[in-house]
Parts: sequence; C-alpha cells; structure tokens
Amino acid sequence: MADSTTPNVGGEPSPAPEPSKGEPRLRMHAINKSFGAVRALTNVDFEVYAGEVVGLVGDNGAGKSTLIKAVAGVAPADDGEIFVEGQPVKITTPQIATHLGIETVYQDLALCDNLDVVGNLYLGREERIAGLALSENEMERRGLGVLRTLDVKLPSVRAKVAQLSGGQRQSIAVAKTILRNAKVVLLDEPTAALGVAQTRQVLNLIRQLRDQGLAVVVISHNLADVFEVADRVIVLRLGKRVGTFEIKSTTPERIVAAITGAEFGEILQTTTTDGNGNGTSGGDEQ
Ligand SMILES: Nc1ncnc2c1ncn2[C@@H]1O[C@H](COP(=O)(O)OP(=O)(O)OP(=O)(O)O)[C@@H](O)[C@H]1O
Ligand SMILES: [Mg+2]
Repeated sequence: MADSTTPNVGGEPSPAPEPSKGEPRLRMHAINKSFGAVRALTNVDFEVYAGEVVGLVGDNGAGKSTLIKAVAGVAPADDGEIFVEGQPVKITTPQIATHLGIETVYQDLALCDNLDVVGNLYLGREERIAGLALSENEMERRGLGVLRTLDVKLPSVRAKVAQLSGGQRQSIAVAKTILRNAKVVLLDEPTAALGVAQTRQVLNLIRQLRDQGLAVVVISHNLADVFEVADRVIVLRLGKRVGTFEIKSTTPERIVAAITGAEFGEILQTTTTDGNGNGTSGGDEQ
C-alpha cells in the first residue's frame, strides 16, 4: 500500500498500486462526440482499474472534459460503449452515473456557501435509516469519519463553506463522493486554482482514494502533479487518444511530446512497454 503520509519529492512517482489487471473498473470503448461541426472525441478508448490513479492530460480543447462529461451522464456521447466492472451500461443522466458509483468533482464545485461542512456533505441526498431521516448528530459523525479517513484538515465541520480555502472546499467535494459510495472518482482540474499547501492536501487525498481501492481519474495541466499521483497517464490530442504511459517508465518530456504531437512516431516506439496492446504502452494508439 502506498504511504500516503509521506509527501513525494523530486517528482518521484507514487508507490505503484497493485491493480488487478483483469477487468477495468471503468472502460469506455470507441467513444465519439461532436458539437455541431466540432469533433470533440473520435473513437476514444479509456480504462481505469480499481486502486489506480489515471492522469488524463492534453492541451486545451483536447477533449478531456468532454470525455469525463460523457461518463458522468452530463453530456452523453454520440456513440460508443461504457462498461462498469465489465458490465455494459448506458449513462444518460448524472443520476445513473451516481447509481453506478461514478462520481465527478468539477472545478466549480457546486458547494453551498451558506451551509456548513456537514450540510454540504449531505446536500442533495437525504440520509435515511429505516425510512427515518438521519439525525444531525449521526450525519456529523459519519461526515467526520470520512473526513478523518481522508486526512482532511478543517477548522470545524460546522464551519460555513464560505470560510474555507480552495483546497478545503475541494476536499469536501471529494469527501462527498465517498459518502455516496463511489467506485470511480473523476476529478476535473482539482488543483488548478490551489496554492502549494492546498495542492498538497488534495494530492494526498487522491492517494487516499486510490489506497481505498477506488479507481481515480485526474485531469490536470500540471504535469508535476500528475507525476506525483498518477500510476498511468492517458494523453488526448485533438479528440483522439494518442498515448498511454506508465508513470514509472516515462518522463515529462515524453508526455509533453505526446500532448503537442512533437516527434510522435518516435514516442510510439520508445514508450512501448509490453507490446500486447492492453493499454500499458504508448504503441496501442494512433
Ligand atoms: N458545449 C459545447 N459546445 C460546443 N463545443 C464544445 C462544447 N464543449 C466542448 N466543446 C468543444 O469540444 C472540444 C473539446 O473540449 P473540452 O472541453 O473537452 O476540452 P478539454 O480537453 O477539457 O480542454 P481544457 O483543457 O481547456 O479544459 C473543444 O474544441 C471545445 O471547443
Ligand atoms: Mg476541460
């Protein structure tokens, strides 16, 4: 198990998880999505395993958010297949995604400033036991349990969210996904607006999710962050998957080259690690 309390320094990758390389927790196959004349995604395959963090990277407009929105049920794909633990699913609404254990944290976090932490954790979800609404105390107890498991530091769970820092808010949005029994957590630019200490807190949280056996997808423009938390990186370019890299055996330069399309033929050869097309090499995409 990764030691999530030890910050990674010097860009060293996190300790590797032990994903069962059987069926991915989430798999997307041949996803297409257009907005009018704009082809946002072309024939994109994607997979993330339990106990794995995948960094989803690419330049502005590469299709990252579009891919996440397709699996979150916010903007379903035009065609393609989605499998959760090997079972084919149709995700046409966010409610279906939630029901399947797929939770998304967007940059505008959809937290309610005027509610406190506990109120936000349970917002939009009435907690009931045997038909009875859960007491405030019980909600607080459970919420605190999750925040403690995730090692989230807050002034108080009764603090109004408006008083919290960006990192603390991001942490609450993530904790909320845990309370909903997520199996897959998708984070769209979770550290983009955060300072150094807050970024560290959120990266730590991402490791905690992975160590709890969740499948985690992190979209980020910050390759240092990606190298800190991701086990694997999938690169989109102009709506196509153009590269897959095991973080342990690649460099930021190679990923940047895939993002920008520079010397691409060479990258395909130099990053191939297993050659059997199971998604761990850079040679399985075009
Ligand atoms: N609602 C929409 N209507 C029209 N075009 C859209 C819409 N959403 C996305 N697009 C287009 O689809 C393409 C992919 O956009 P997307 O938001 O997925 O990119 P991204 O990789 O998330 O970029 P960024 O890093 O800037 O967030 C872009 O060309 C974008 O202009
Ligand atoms: Mg985006």
